Amino acid sequence: MPRTSWASRRSAADDAAEVIASRSPAGWAQVSPWIPTTTTVTAADQHIHKEYKKPMADLGYDGKVAVITGAGGGLGRSHALELSKRGALVVVNDLGGSVDGEGGSHTAAQKVVDEIKAAGGEAVANYDTVATPEGGKAIIQTALDAFERVDIVINNAGILRDAAFKNMDASKLDPVLDVHLKGSFYVTLAAWETMRAQNYGRIVNTSSAAGIFGNFGQTNYGAAKAGIVGLTRVLAVEGAKNNIKANAIAPVAKSRMTEDLLGPLVDKLGPEFITPVVAWLAHEDVPVTGEVYSCGGGHVARIFTAVTPGWTDVESLTVEDIRDHFDEIRSEEGYLVPANLGEELQATLKALGG
Ligand SMILES: NC(=O)c1ccc[n+]([C@@H]2O[C@H](COP(=O)([O-])OP(=O)(O)OC[C@H]3O[C@@H](n4cnc5c(N)ncnc54)[C@H](O)[C@@H]3O)[C@@H](O)[C@H]2O)c1
Repeated sequence: MPRTSWASRRSAADDAAEVIASRSPAGWAQVSPWIPTTTTVTAADQHIHKEYKKPMADLGYDGKVAVITGAGGGLGRSHALELSKRGALVVVNDLGGSVDGEGGSHTAAQKVVDEIKAAGGEAVANYDTVATPEGGKAIIQTALDAFERVDIVINNAGILRDAAFKNMDASKLDPVLDVHLKGSFYVTLAAWETMRAQNYGRIVNTSSAAGIFGNFGQTNYGAAKAGIVGLTRVLAVEGAKNNIKANAIAPVAKSRMTEDLLGPLVDKLGPEFITPVVAWLAHEDVPVTGEVYSCGGGHVARIFTAVTPGWTDVESLTVEDIRDHFDEIRSEEGYLVPANLGEELQATLKALGG
């Protein structure tokens, strides 16, 4: 099947006409399919005018190159298929090992590449591990060799080595930190200079509620996944001046990693409910950076880190003061959601009278 671009399959003008025909006051479409130019609109019209001055076009990725790690199955495969369907050129990375990270095979990544090609898309496979600096570089080099750019990195590769903390050891900690945290770091690092030079990049990292909120048996995984939130937030700060946006998801979905854990709801939690969130965070139009979204089964919510207004005594602070004012220190009323360290520091300085 010959490949047609997303834009040519559904032009912006088609979208504009459809939106205006279905949702804007009659007559606007005759003035302009894009921006109504009449100056005699009512206040209500102005509201609609503002809301619909841009066509609500479907979202495409024409010409954008997306590297998706761990895309040989589960969530990553779903992300790869969707971005490709919408016009992205995709690097399907997967080491092809077991859930606990043992072994490796080319089959998983190659199968997804074959699927994409059979549907008329463009993709190449990469089988390197994300967990080393060399692996990260090789994965990004695959994108540069095949498509001469990299616009989107979706850090998704992951393994599990769960155990109660009393049974944890280095053999369960190191590989999990290596794949999740260092993997996200190394793959992004390899793409960073290209993204800075082209003043464009979208990073989507895969965190987990296990690390953000805590879960039994996952100290290794939770530490790695919470570390990914820190990585995301600093990337957001550093990427801002080069139009590089970094966000993260905390998904819950059926995959080989979770199918025995999710109970009776498992079949309602397909990866297809995660991918639209990832795809939006990977899109040129995404308005946010440094944010984290919980998603699963069609529910999407923002997770944020906030600081309470707290309590201040600049004269003398004793341990008894902390005890006596602990409720005020902990009170969530009037919390602030700082975008970065600077904003949090400003709040502290303000509390100190600065
Ligand atoms: N499924 C969930 O409910 C859930 C919840 C929270 C977070 N996550 C995260 O989502 C991501 C995707 O997981 P999934 O549920 O689709 O599981 P999955 O096991 O199907 O997918 C993970 C993929 O990563 C690949 N991989 C592992 N180590 C790699 C390495 N070193 N280099 C390259 N690829 C490697 C695996 O081969 C596998 O295909 C993971 O980061 C996981 O921790 C999943």
